[in-house]
Amino acid sequence: MNTRRAFIAGNWKMHKTVSEARDYFGAFLPSVRNIVDRDIVLAPPFTALTAMAEMIRGSNVMLSAQNVFYEENGAYTGEVSASMLKELGCAYVIVGHSERRQYFHETDETVNKKIMISLKHGLGVIVCIGELLSEREAGRTYEVLERQITTGLKDINNEGLVIAYEPVWAIGTGRTATPEQAQEAHEHIRTRLREFYGKSADRLRILYGGSVTPENIDSLMACPDVDGALVGGASRKPESFEMIVKFKGG
Ligand code: PGA
Repeated sequence: MNTRRAFIAGNWKMHKTVSEARDYFGAFLPSVRNIVDRDIVLAPPFTALTAMAEMIRGSNVMLSAQNVFYEENGAYTGEVSASMLKELGCAYVIVGHSERRQYFHETDETVNKKIMISLKHGLGVIVCIGELLSEREAGRTYEVLERQITTGLKDINNEGLVIAYEPVWAIGTGRTATPEQAQEAHEHIRTRLREFYGKSADRLRILYGGSVTPENIDSLMACPDVDGALVGGASRKPESFEMIVKFKGG
């Protein structure tokens, strides 16, 4: 039986000003107030984090940043450090999202450094991995996951880690992986993580991400190795994210 606590995270990407974020939280927080059996995380843009940290105080919702830089501090114009995020009240940070890999040239090596510094500062890390459509079609899915895990998690302790499997072809496309495809990849990832971390890998939560909606969340969460979801588009409306958070089962 899956005893891992469900973890539902919403990633707003580059959406919502502070006032839009306030309106959202005003509606969302009361709607999930009574939920105690699952982790609820939201990742607004950097600019909204301070205001959101105040709004969630005393609530059951945690904050995540969408990115972090891998140095402690210094002359890195435009970057944000792990200690800054921690001080703001972030519980998590997303690292290695495919959009960052695609548009901002993140590599498995920089992902590794970002995980390292975030854990050092006491942030939990949602590490994103996943294959491109061309890689899946070429039968290279496991090879890509292998590279992302081996290099990305090199010398990383698994305490504080959450893994998000996000097939790139499913992100923002409306083309969700079937529960069978998700389960197959998650099972593979967990087997691989067991080689890395031994039995404690059984406690690691593996989220599915890519066009998760209120309509498909129940069937995804019914998979034994799917422990939660990383939700983009459908997390931007409080009503639809509420429905996802309240998935049946778990
Ligand atoms: P999506 O995004 O739910 O809009 O597909 C998921 C993600 O990028 O994490």
